[in-house]
Amino acid sequence: MIYDIDMQKGSITMELLEGPKAKDVIDSAEDPLEICGKIGIAVAKLHSAGICHGDLTTSNMIVCKDGSIGFIDFSMGDIGADTEALGVDMHLLERAFSSAHSSVVNGYETIVESYSDNMPDAKAVLDRVEVIKGRARYT
Ligand SMILES: Nc1ncnc2c1ncn2[C@@H]1O[C@H](COP(=O)(O)OP(=O)(O)O)[C@@H](O)[C@H]1O
Ligand SMILES: [Mg+2]
Repeated sequence: MIYDIDMQKGSITMELLEGPKAKDVIDSAEDPLEICGKIGIAVAKLHSAGICHGDLTTSNMIVCKDGSIGFIDFSMGDIGADTEALGVDMHLLERAFSSAHSSVVNGYETIVESYSDNMPDAKAVLDRVEVIKGRARYT
């Protein structure tokens, strides 16, 4: 939540999301897949509103006190995002789970499941992820 934008000072005052970064807690969490489910729900909310994050990694997710996931670091984000931009978000997240969180078995799959349950256009976005991967392979 943005509280204030001061054009003169060039400052933005915004809500501090209290809690650890998902990156730091997910591997040693009691139930990592529960966090993954919550990540899927949170990304679905963002994407359903046509917002792409632009740097969708677990370093930019805060595990809030109530267990929900909050996003920070929207500097690469955009509104009115198309399927391609949303696909790039999901592709980055998949890569994060195959590298930084490779010990979380089925982590990305769990995210995709809850994402699909909560995002009407999930299929189009996930199909696009496959296209993006194909492209990456040949460039
Ligand atoms: N706990 C937080 N709550 C709200 N906003 C935050 C929080 N932590 C960081 N931010 C915002 O996200 C921006 C980027 O933070 P961070 O992702 O930690 O840095 P970077 O990825 O650039 O190294 C910060 O400038 C700040 O505006
Ligand atoms: Mg960041």
